[in-house]
Amino acid sequence: MIRLIKPYINFEEIKEELKEILDSGILTSGKYAKSLPKEIARYTGAEYAFNTTSATTALSMAMELLDIGPQDEVIVSDFSFPASSNVVEQRGAKAVFADVSLKTYNMKNEELENKITKHTKAVIFVCALGNPTGVQEIWSICRRHGIPLVVDGACALGSSEKGIQIGNIGDISCFSFHPRKLVTSGEGGMITTSNPEYAQKLAIKLNHGAVAENGKLCFVDYGFNYRLPEIQCMMILKQLEQLDKIISERIATREYYKNELTPLGFEPQAYAKECTHNMQSVVFTVPSGVDRDSLLKYLRNHEVEAVFGTYCLSNCVYNKKKYGDVQTNALWLQNHTVCLPCYHDVEQETVVKVIADYIKGDR
Ligand SMILES: Cc1ncc(COP(=O)(O)O)c(C=O)c1O
Repeated sequence: MIRLIKPYINFEEIKEELKEILDSGILTSGKYAKSLPKEIARYTGAEYAFNTTSATTALSMAMELLDIGPQDEVIVSDFSFPASSNVVEQRGAKAVFADVSLKTYNMKNEELENKITKHTKAVIFVCALGNPTGVQEIWSICRRHGIPLVVDGACALGSSEKGIQIGNIGDISCFSFHPRKLVTSGEGGMITTSNPEYAQKLAIKLNHGAVAENGKLCFVDYGFNYRLPEIQCMMILKQLEQLDKIISERIATREYYKNELTPLGFEPQAYAKECTHNMQSVVFTVPSGVDRDSLLKYLRNHEVEAVFGTYCLSNCVYNKKKYGDVQTNALWLQNHTVCLPCYHDVEQETVVKVIADYIKGDR
């Protein structure tokens, strides 16, 4: 099977550090857990960064930080993984889905403008499949309305727009280190901000609500444990050193697929010239007349692991029941996109050949 993604890390690369951590007995909150947020802050340009156990817990923390409650509305990109809006539901608030562009798959400016009401307390912009396109314009709109912007950059570590990295655009940003991401620790996440007030609150909230006073913990607030253990932090640090190389290799694979598949009628996810797209997912819409699900089945039967792009959130059963049925670009994308295998030694020629065979009718 040609896998969709493979981790960019192996045992040989980390065995010394692994031994060191296990022998030290310091399995949490040690030197790797301290270095990781510093390195993420350095890489993204954000002033502050905090480890979390996942992007979901990072987003949940963002909602906590912004004090989202039952009277509030939070506008969320409609094309994403359900975690992006589940964190709004967790607060008892109303998720308002903003439709996305059929080209970039990201939230459209006019959708955001139209959905802002006096109840809007925050906006969650998703960098769909790693794509940062349009995030700065969305941030300008948010600022104009005095609404904080949370960037769901779960897929977007290493992506940038106009020279600014995701993590340093918006009021709060969240990342994931799930195995579908370019840098992984199995599970893991990060929250970044350049707002000192948010950072101060995060430091307390992420430490069970405690501050250190005279060598003791003083619980000044309620808080949580979303800490990421030493081994996971070490793994992420190792991969961060390689991130720029990983991204350039993935861009090269995407270019290969684009050159080969565009003539067959596939259209790649678009991104603006002034952006670096980290290519967390390499996604195309299928040619008109092609049944996407049959193509995915054919690929799987021919040992190629491919999946659909991502979900239309407003069409998920829970959201549809609560907020009603809508026909959006996001729904069209959910049903017409394919995400292809991508990593340094992927057998890209085989992937293209299997797709071409399918299109030519050898079904
Ligand atoms: C856009 C987006 N947000 C949030 C998440 C949740 O990330 P995690 O699995 O780290 O909680 C994902 C997961 O794939 C995602 O794609």
